[in-house]
Amino acid sequence: MKAPILKGKEIILKPIKTSEAGNYLRWFNDPEINRYLTIDGKQLNLVKEIQYIKNALKSKTKYNWAIYTSNMHIGSTGLELNFQHNKATWGIFIGEKDYHNQGLGTDTLKMILNFCFKRLKLNRVELGVFSYNQRGYRCYEKCGFKFEGVKKQAILKNGKYIDEIMMGILRKDYLKK
Ligand SMILES: CC(C)(COP(=O)(O)OP(=O)(O)OC[C@H]1O[C@@H](n2cnc3c(N)ncnc32)[C@H](O)[C@@H]1OP(=O)(O)O)[C@@H](O)C(=O)NCCC(=O)NCCS
Repeated sequence: MKAPILKGKEIILKPIKTSEAGNYLRWFNDPEINRYLTIDGKQLNLVKEIQYIKNALKSKTKYNWAIYTSNMHIGSTGLELNFQHNKATWGIFIGEKDYHNQGLGTDTLKMILNFCFKRLKLNRVELGVFSYNQRGYRCYEKCGFKFEGVKKQAILKNGKYIDEIMMGILRKDYLKK
């Protein structure tokens, strides 16, 4: 689905476009970014990435945004909607490492939650985060996500099993804040 433009304090979210494919490829192949993601950068190439973006734009269940700050493209965020259960799974990466730890992930997430609960009127948003991703965990916790459990060894990456922490936020708790 074509994602609407969303504006936060420091961030603007715009629908992803094929001209950004080179950046995504570069970030997916950066081991310091890739270690937090399920995607395997080695299996990607520019043609596949452009096709992924085209498919995402046509999808009836996915919103994919590019994250920009001061006209700089720094990452991406997306939602996969589950209409049957009135919920979504959310994901993010800021690929430009110089932009980590500046509150931009938090700013992005606040916009996404506002979109999910106020505009889409969802009941729940959920996510999975690798057990060693303390920065991600802290960012999500700050925005209201709660720890819901651990899927032991749910991810196999570079020959190692990783525990995945499941987090969620309910509409009723979001609206109370
Ligand atoms: C995870 C990510 C989206 C967070 O965005 P961000 O803009 O870097 O994070 P923010 O600055 O908004 O918030 C980070 C918080 O974690 C804290 N933090 C940073 N490193 C930490 C660590 N090692 N342990 C604990 N907390 C940490 C920060 O201090 C901050 O909390 P505070 O505001 O209470 O001080 C971003 O870092 C990123 O994309 N990383 C690479 C890919 C990735 O991890 N994607 C997510 C996969 S689930």
